[in-house]
Amino acid sequence: MSPHREGISMPDSTTAPRTVAVILAGGIGVRVGLGIPKQLIKIAGKAIVEHTLDVMNASEVIDEIIIVMNAGAIDQLESLKHDERFPKLTRIIPGGETRNDSTKAALAALGDDANTKVLFHDAVRPFVNERILEECVEALDHYEAVDTAIPSADTIIQVDSASHITGIPNRAILRRGQTPQAFRLGTIRAAYELADKDKTFHATDDCGVVFTYLPGTPIYVVDGTPENMKVTEPIDVHIADKLFQLQSASLTADAEMPDLAGKVIVVFGGSYGIGESIVELARTAGAEVHQFSRSTTDTDVRSRSAVKTALKQAHDASGRIDAVVMSAGVLRMGPLTKTKVKHIESSIETNFLAPVIVSRAAHKYLKETAGQVLLFTSSSHTRGRANYGIYSASKAAVVNLTQALAEEWAEDGVRVNCINPQRTRTPMRTSAFGEEPAESLLDPHQVAEVSLKVLDSGLTGQIVAVRVEQQADRSVR
Ligand code: CTP
Repeated sequence: MSPHREGISMPDSTTAPRTVAVILAGGIGVRVGLGIPKQLIKIAGKAIVEHTLDVMNASEVIDEIIIVMNAGAIDQLESLKHDERFPKLTRIIPGGETRNDSTKAALAALGDDANTKVLFHDAVRPFVNERILEECVEALDHYEAVDTAIPSADTIIQVDSASHITGIPNRAILRRGQTPQAFRLGTIRAAYELADKDKTFHATDDCGVVFTYLPGTPIYVVDGTPENMKVTEPIDVHIADKLFQLQSASLTADAEMPDLAGKVIVVFGGSYGIGESIVELARTAGAEVHQFSRSTTDTDVRSRSAVKTALKQAHDASGRIDAVVMSAGVLRMGPLTKTKVKHIESSIETNFLAPVIVSRAAHKYLKETAGQVLLFTSSSHTRGRANYGIYSASKAAVVNLTQALAEEWAEDGVRVNCINPQRTRTPMRTSAFGEEPAESLLDPHQVAEVSLKVLDSGLTGQIVAVRVEQQADRSVR
């Protein structure tokens, strides 16, 4: 809860006005240039508009949600309407030609109570947070109109059509406008009624309409955040992807250990190292765990039939499978020209083909439970390393696979994530690199802890980093 909220006596809930969030998704996203409305671009396993909807739906201060969707693509949101995860979503209506037309479509759908608090938010700002939403809603107890903005790091210059500077306003008093923009319904309606009578009307947002047509109305500004960016240009898609990754990292650092009672988890490669730690910790957390590996159950993860048999056995024994963890891997050092072809093949098979085989075979069980596949990559996936190129290339492929399957299986409710542990003290690593200073290595237990938190989360399509510094931070606390 924000400090702002404390000290304000909230009205009696029976008389408190309704708060409706309008998610504006009526645009096309020409500038991103991906050929689909940008609000439908999938990042971290879900369409951007769905991420935004998630935040709004989870907010304590929002009662109802309306989505204004690009009319040509409105059928693509059909499934959200009946989705039990979004009980606050009441309507999805077609948008208009301009953003202001889309706002007007929402105003026409909002009922008669002039006191209703309404928040307009760009669908393509999925990183809006609860603090911003709360401050906007609370500010409407004192103001009729509220904007969200952040200071500008860049100097803003004014230019003419010949690209000559015509003014350099003092940066200290400038802000970059974001959304939400929040209003009492009666006020924003009155502003638009006046704008409708003005043939020269032009605005790119809703506060601008109040500012121009109801000039006596003070508009309060709530602090936004740099993360509350608008996905606009192609580079923003990459930045948004990274921001989702960072979000997942903070989730794993803070969250309590989950309670996994009643969950059934299958671990491939759980006889030593990270897999073993996951087996132990998941059992401690109450899960029923089935562990398969070459040394313990003679299960070769490269064999489709062996993997299928293992999964069937687990399912027959427990009646369900909630998660399948694939932690088996091999790391063999040496230059490519000196590596035997059979070793190259077996490295690709274990590090890449096996995750494919396991994921594919697990899908039908996980579909029944809205479960999760958890794969493992290596920090070398971002950049190939000399002398273990096959390993790092296979691990890069696992990352790509995670993202692809998260998208493919989102409709089935199956999540797919990937843990990216930094150097970890495992027998596999020691045999490849020899003894290394203990403080430079992660404890497999720590990696297992993060893995279980990811299994317990709603994340999908995420590559979750576990770093030695995180471990050090924790021991200091
Ligand atoms: N928007 C809308 N109706 C429109 C145009 C835009 O609801 N007719 C929404 C967009 O979907 C987006 C937000 O307003 O969530 C911000 O608009 P902007 O980023 O300018 O979106 P686009 O018009 O989609 O992008 P572009 O200008 O690159 O085509």
